[in-house]
Amino acid sequence: MPPQTILVTGSSGLIGSEAVEHFDRQGHDVTGVDNNMRREFFGPQGDTTWNLERLKSATKNFRHHSLDIRDRGALDELFRARRFDLIIHCAAQPSHDKARDIPILDFEVNAVGTLNLLEATRQHCPEAVFLFMSTNKVYGDAPNEIPLKELETRWEYARPEDHHGVSESCRIDRTLHSLFGASKAAADLVAQEYGRYFGMKVGVFRGGCLTGPSHSGVELHGFLSYLVKVALSGGT
Ligand SMILES: NC(=O)c1ccc[n+]([C@@H]2O[C@H](COP(=O)([O-])OP(=O)(O)OC[C@H]3O[C@@H](n4cnc5c(N)ncnc54)[C@H](O)[C@@H]3O)[C@@H](O)[C@H]2O)c1
Repeated sequence: MPPQTILVTGSSGLIGSEAVEHFDRQGHDVTGVDNNMRREFFGPQGDTTWNLERLKSATKNFRHHSLDIRDRGALDELFRARRFDLIIHCAAQPSHDKARDIPILDFEVNAVGTLNLLEATRQHCPEAVFLFMSTNKVYGDAPNEIPLKELETRWEYARPEDHHGVSESCRIDRTLHSLFGASKAAADLVAQEYGRYFGMKVGVFRGGCLTGPSHSGVELHGFLSYLVKVALSGGT
């Protein structure tokens, strides 16, 4: 594949930084957007500066913009300056519990920020592939209705068709999401709509419980990384 021009949002976060490294290693031209808002959400432990510095020294063709995805003017400028072939959208307010304290900010980043990026893509590079990191929280508590059976040491899905995860046919309405789940469900729907209505190449990925060494883990998000950190440091 010839070198592609790739935009990664949330590029200093867990998933974004892995995407940056992956595509940089393959020789593509990677632009990252991250304004370190994780620090604003979660305090100094959530600061992603260390990961940005690591990326700068580990990559060959990576440039970074400390840009807020809520800022439509700045996004417009970025998309005018570079024509992207692929957009990997990972920037988000990622915590259920945090969203309860900041519902408007959560919605502005997760739902409106995603709409801003989709619209910038439609205006400037509508043929690009747009990948959105959604979440399995769009299903809310509906997966709790999936039948389980009790084994000797654990519970297991009762029906074979559930063994590989929750089906995308699971409903996303009439369910309790948390405000975070609702802002992500709004973004998920609008991303699908840009695919179906405008015929753009949009992919939506509903992951869950992802972790890795590049997480700036805090109690409210990145819990597995946070647990390991606390176990090793003995702190809280
Ligand atoms: N980690 C998981 O378990 C998991 C599971 C399912 C879905 N997801 C989704 O994957 C995506 C990435 O998650 P992550 O775990 O890498 O989170 P993360 O917090 O590590 O990364 C998100 C990054 O986005 C940046 N950001 C936040 N608001 C911004 C803004 N307004 N403008 C620019 N940058 C901003 C943050 O500074 C952070 O570096 C999110 O959409 C999340 O909902 C994550």
